[in-house]
Amino acid sequence: MKSLFITFFLFVFSFPLMASEAVHFEKVDVDITDKASLQRGAKTFVNYCLSCHQAAYMRYNRMGKDLGLTDDQVAENLMFASDKVGETMTIAMRPADAKKWFGVTPPDLSVIARSRGTDWLYSYFRHFHLDDSHPMGTNNLTFAGVGMPHVLWEQQGYLAKNEKTGELNVAQEGPLTKHEYNQYIHDLVNFLAYMGEPSKLQRMALAKWVLLYLALFLLIAYPLKKAFWRDIH
Ligand code: HEC
Repeated sequence: MKSLFITFFLFVFSFPLMASEAVHFEKVDVDITDKASLQRGAKTFVNYCLSCHQAAYMRYNRMGKDLGLTDDQVAENLMFASDKVGETMTIAMRPADAKKWFGVTPPDLSVIARSRGTDWLYSYFRHFHLDDSHPMGTNNLTFAGVGMPHVLWEQQGYLAKNEKTGELNVAQEGPLTKHEYNQYIHDLVNFLAYMGEPSKLQRMALAKWVLLYLALFLLIAYPLKKAFWRDIH
């Protein structure tokens, strides 16, 4: 009985600890109706991510339609890995090779925003840092020991970790300022959020018509109800 009580006690009081574990993720406000942001994020995605990761549940032409682009614009600006707009975002690298090169197979990113959450992703892409002890030469504060190199160094430059404070400081400047890089990652995460649930855009667009329909229906239903119940009241 006593041990049961202790287990219960530990269980309940571990909640605040779990919560405090998560608070160092900065919140990111994603807005999948912001087409300009999604287009910028898509560009980053096809340029920097599709070489290793695929998004086998996303079709180019579907993405183009949702992002407000024509098939020609998609083919010209966003297609480096395939040649038909009806295809899904797959890659040429074989999983066995990827495993050999990186130690792990880069996961499909179609629904990564749903499994990791957007705050985690926003944190992950901003916290790569130099680490000589790691085969990639870099490591990550959010995902310690990650098998992915810092592919966005061309934008961010490199950060180094201060061993005493654990803080990340600029070791090599990139073309983007800290603020610009945050914005750049915001767009990428926004795109990943869209990709995780493309039908959400349609649902949101449909929602206002459904509400309008219900409002109009009320205008008919209410007088009708009054007419039906007139003799009873
Ligand atoms: C050079 C190959 C390579 C490129 C390019 C690359 N990644 Fe990765 N990525 C990996 C590998 C390998 C892993 C697996 C790491 C592990 O599990 O240790 C990974 C892991 C991840 C994860 C964590 C997955 C999880 O939940 O375990 C995310 C998110 C991710 N990559 C997103 C991206 C995005 C977005 C881009 C483009 C900006 C990108 N990656 C570019 C190789 C790559």
